[in-house]
Amino acid sequence: MFANERVLITGGSGSLGRQIVDILKNSNEIVVYSRNEERQHEMQKSLGRLSNLTFIIGDVRDELTLTDALRGCTIAIHAAAMKDLIFCENQPVQTYLNNLIGTQSFLQAVKKNPSVKKACGVSTDKAASPSSVYGCTKYIMEQMFRESARYADCIMSTVRFGNMINSRGSLIGEWKSNPNKEICLTHPDVARFFFTVKDGATTVLEAINSAKNGELYIRKMKQARIYDILKLITGRDSFPIIGLFPGEKIHEELVSQNEAPYCHELGNYYVVKPECINKSPPQMYSTQNAPAFSLNELVTLLDF
Ligand SMILES: NC(=O)c1ccc[n+]([C@@H]2O[C@H](COP(=O)([O-])OP(=O)(O)OC[C@H]3O[C@@H](n4cnc5c(N)ncnc54)[C@H](OP(=O)(O)O)[C@@H]3O)[C@@H](O)[C@H]2O)c1
Repeated sequence: MFANERVLITGGSGSLGRQIVDILKNSNEIVVYSRNEERQHEMQKSLGRLSNLTFIIGDVRDELTLTDALRGCTIAIHAAAMKDLIFCENQPVQTYLNNLIGTQSFLQAVKKNPSVKKACGVSTDKAASPSSVYGCTKYIMEQMFRESARYADCIMSTVRFGNMINSRGSLIGEWKSNPNKEICLTHPDVARFFFTVKDGATTVLEAINSAKNGELYIRKMKQARIYDILKLITGRDSFPIIGLFPGEKIHEELVSQNEAPYCHELGNYYVVKPECINKSPPQMYSTQNAPAFSLNELVTLLDF
């Protein structure tokens, strides 16, 4: 998809970042930017010595280091974030610092590097009609990119999608490796959008490839009830119900009611063009009206 680019990925050592590195590494230079040495070291070991990969330890909030790291980069992907719903709910200040001050620093660093042609922020379905601290920060992140698009010399876009089933911290991975232990359900109707980390990485790259300045790319995804996933993983059909966590929703949305008027359908995507009203807009797109995985599709998905 990309060739001969120099791509910086904040959060490049995370699940999504690593997958993007895998896709791009044969034909591009890549800069992995994150904080934890051990995770970068482990990534270096698994990839072998590749001269086109640079690893930089740095916090996204450290604008000076990020500005230096971006020198000569042509594409900048902002994937670093706090993303655990419960951690974010319990520590809104840290979530704000990481996800919003981090984004501000990223946007400033991009603007200081004229080599950057395209910059993209990675968002989540939890940003649509947000109910959680995590979702709120991601919604504001999207708006910060939209605002920056007015003043930047490069193309600024965001991309939104639902759960990557095999990403770090995904409960489904835990359930799969321990199907016999007691597993609780927060609500019998909870449903989520799913695809794999590989799909997530492809989605980010497709959005960067196609997005125009200020646009939000939203991937159309299929949904499944957590109850049906648990039934498949455990072979059981009854689970203790413990009630929703603070900030947790029964249904997720990819396109909210408020956004639908600005939404334009484009193949596998909805594109939110903030200044462009669609005279025949799509409906809101939520786990209540999106297509569901068939049983066979779910079995295939769960195999990761
Ligand atoms: N996982 C999903 O299902 C999902 C769904 C939709 C959207 N997303 C979004 O996709 C992005 C990547 O998710 P992921 O699943 O790949 O997450 P992940 O595996 O937890 O990776 C997060 C990455 O961000 C880095 N990071 C976090 N805070 C940082 C900071 N202050 N400075 C520098 N690096 C920082 C982490 O490395 P260090 O800790 O070493 O710094 C790690 O490399 C996130 O923005 C997330 O909101 C994820």
